[in-house]
Amino acid sequence: MYKKNKEDMNKSLEKKAGLLNNDHHHYSYNYFPKMRLRRLRKNTAIRELFQEVRLSPKDLVLPLFIQEGIKSNLPIDAMPGIFRFSPDLILQEIEDCVNIGINAIILFGLPKTKDTHGKSSYDDKGVVQHTIKLIRDNFGDKIVIITDVCLCQYTSHGHCGIIHKNEIDNDKTLNVLGNTALSHARAGADMVAPSAMMDGQVKRIRDILDDNNYTNTLIMGYSAKQASSFFSPFRDAAHSKPSFGNRYTYQMSFFNPREAAREIEADIEEGADVLMIKPALSNLDLIYEAKKTTLHPIAAYSVSGEYSMIKAAAINQWIDEDLAVTESLTAIKRAGANIIISYYAKRMAEILKTN
Ligand code: PBG
Ligand code: ZN
Repeated sequence: MYKKNKEDMNKSLEKKAGLLNNDHHHYSYNYFPKMRLRRLRKNTAIRELFQEVRLSPKDLVLPLFIQEGIKSNLPIDAMPGIFRFSPDLILQEIEDCVNIGINAIILFGLPKTKDTHGKSSYDDKGVVQHTIKLIRDNFGDKIVIITDVCLCQYTSHGHCGIIHKNEIDNDKTLNVLGNTALSHARAGADMVAPSAMMDGQVKRIRDILDDNNYTNTLIMGYSAKQASSFFSPFRDAAHSKPSFGNRYTYQMSFFNPREAAREIEADIEEGADVLMIKPALSNLDLIYEAKKTTLHPIAAYSVSGEYSMIKAAAINQWIDEDLAVTESLTAIKRAGANIIISYYAKRMAEILKTN
């Protein structure tokens, strides 16, 4: 129908222009040589006018690693340019974020002590809880504080859940995740983001938060989180590599997009405010699908491996770092992400400022 109308319209326009002398000479304004797409690319000003997708620092969330008990920031081998922050030195980093227009951070804690049950994850004096208070006291509501809620940095075995009879016990883990989320909310977090991939984690956290009057604390589900090789640099950064086995019984398989849709559906049912998909660049299809089929805000996590791949190529001068970062973050936004979590958030904001 649309096509036919368009053809009729073209015909009448062509007649008006005197281009249609007879039926054998059929010119169209929709095809070369009348149509020339390169007109839209003639110079920078024209290109900028017609740019369809624009990134803003307000789209971006910066992940931050905070390590308990260190006095200076420590570099991360697998992520050149990214540091484990001392809690005492984090305020300068937040200041830099605010100054460049980044309004949100997500915190990952590295505690001094680990045990089989990840007890330090819900300690009200723990590293994340302490850091939340520090940031809140100094920046008020100027920065959105998001926290990762998981056990792998806090357990001696490095798994995201409690081990019972040699298995990661889903329901026992829910209690600890609930307590951790509550302690983050109590410390002043705006949004908690459970990443353990336990069934029912969003529901349990919503219930515990509401029971304790934290009805306004947001939950971002790591809804479709895959067991991904692109997390390797993060595990170096966060000291969270499992000491045995792998995460295949809880993190999703990247072979299964339909199952990813069910994970997303489950998080909606359980009360997530924001749905997250990760890794980002290898899941543009899932981001696009989630944006089309839900009404929730969609977050995409451009994970450590995505950072390290660009960084490694850039260090070798095989790639233009700024262009590669801009291109990949734009692709993630184009796919439908409302929020992009990226270790390049600060750099991206700087690029946007100078453009
Ligand atoms: C904790 C967690 C991980 C990431 C986010 N939260 C690591 C993992 O699941 O092994 C990965 C983030 C990244 O690679 O940047 N469960
Ligand atoms: Zn984990």
